[in-house]
Amino acid sequence: MKVLVVGSGGREHALTWTISKNKDIKKIYCAPGNAGTEGIAENIPINAEDIDELLKFAEEKNIDLTVVGPEIPLINGIVDIFEEKGLKIFGPGKDAAQLEGSKSFTKNLLKKNNIPTALFLETDLPEKAKEFIIKNKKYPIVIKADGPAAGKGVIICENENQAINAIDDIMIKKIFKEAGEKIVIEEFLEGDEASILALTDGNTIYPLPPSQDHKKIFDDDKGPNTGGMGAYAPTPLISKELEKKILDKILYPTLDGLKREGIIYKGIMYAGLMICNQEPYVLEYNVRFGDPETQAVLPLLKSDIIDLFFSSIDGSLKNKKLEIENKAAINVVIASEGYPGNYEKGKVIKGLDAFKDRQDIIIFHAGTKRQNNDIVTAGGRVLNITAIDKDIKSAIEKVYSEINKISFEGMYYRTDIGKRVFKYL
Ligand code: AMP
Ligand code: GLY
Repeated sequence: MKVLVVGSGGREHALTWTISKNKDIKKIYCAPGNAGTEGIAENIPINAEDIDELLKFAEEKNIDLTVVGPEIPLINGIVDIFEEKGLKIFGPGKDAAQLEGSKSFTKNLLKKNNIPTALFLETDLPEKAKEFIIKNKKYPIVIKADGPAAGKGVIICENENQAINAIDDIMIKKIFKEAGEKIVIEEFLEGDEASILALTDGNTIYPLPPSQDHKKIFDDDKGPNTGGMGAYAPTPLISKELEKKILDKILYPTLDGLKREGIIYKGIMYAGLMICNQEPYVLEYNVRFGDPETQAVLPLLKSDIIDLFFSSIDGSLKNKKLEIENKAAINVVIASEGYPGNYEKGKVIKGLDAFKDRQDIIIFHAGTKRQNNDIVTAGGRVLNITAIDKDIKSAIEKVYSEINKISFEGMYYRTDIGKRVFKYL
């Protein structure tokens, strides 16, 4: 079997690594991949957003299955385009991908189906948004660009002044470009965040181990937001009882609500949740695997991922079993100094060989590339160090006792990934 993985981050390396465990795999291609995927797949120089070139490649090579990492190709309809040509591809179609592509689409769907989420106003008129703000007396308030803005389109405002400026920035100055044609205004929810990545074929939903991302750059959740500086799974924040509530009150009603709009959702449903007093609220939906959550979640998967992907595509998930290791995993992101702002590239990474034969520590590459005989930094988030152990406490200890075997000039990581777990235990 020949598989094409689309994307180049830590998530895609983790997907490639998990796929490579399947015995029927003859070849994996990664478009464009990184220095980590290179060891288990053939990297091909096609951009993850270039659907025409990806299609041409998949047809030429008779690819049996395509797995898409990032959201943009999904939102732009890669699944419909591949399926029209008879190619198998895992993920939601263009209609379903609006769940991430448009916050107002999602907000309306949630409202219509009584799915818990923050109160809101949705508008494409800056005057209407400002009128709402002037009447509002409750702060903080959350203002979001409607379209996808690489996780950056959310502004939490502490007062009226900030809120008016946020509306101007998003809708008039267009700091998030066309993502800001429309905005969504939300009540601020106070609680603990969790990421639920769930596999679905449109009828059956299997949640993967619940996880928590760490979005801020500095320890104690300080500083600006990043793509995510680490994650761990399973999080004890989500008990079995709460997981059932999430399925019954959120995930199934979303799937059914979409069905009533004539949309069958297949692939990964990633619900970004706020848990407030043991009640889950939807902050957002993503239509793909999360990064860095995937790097902590997939090493816990015992079932064959290829089998699950095909079952999602052909609607036979209910005949399958989702088996999960009774262990915990943590993923600490190593970044380049300066990230999420400016940073330098091309620094030689040392120490990777120390983990070559380890089963309990896996290095998933993100922004890396090969340069002659070296592997050098090529992005803001550079490596993901994933440790697996019997429980989360042991996994945290393991990752932090080993992480300094890796080194490069200007390497930076958070020292408190997973530590909020002690609050829940
Ligand atoms: P989003 O892209 O919509 O998930 O928002 C990004 C981040 O902003 C979330 O992970 C939360 O930390 C925060 N956030 C978004 N919406 C709210 C809300 N209504 N209340 C509190 N925090 C929020
Ligand atoms: N972990 C955040 C994301 O994948 O969007």
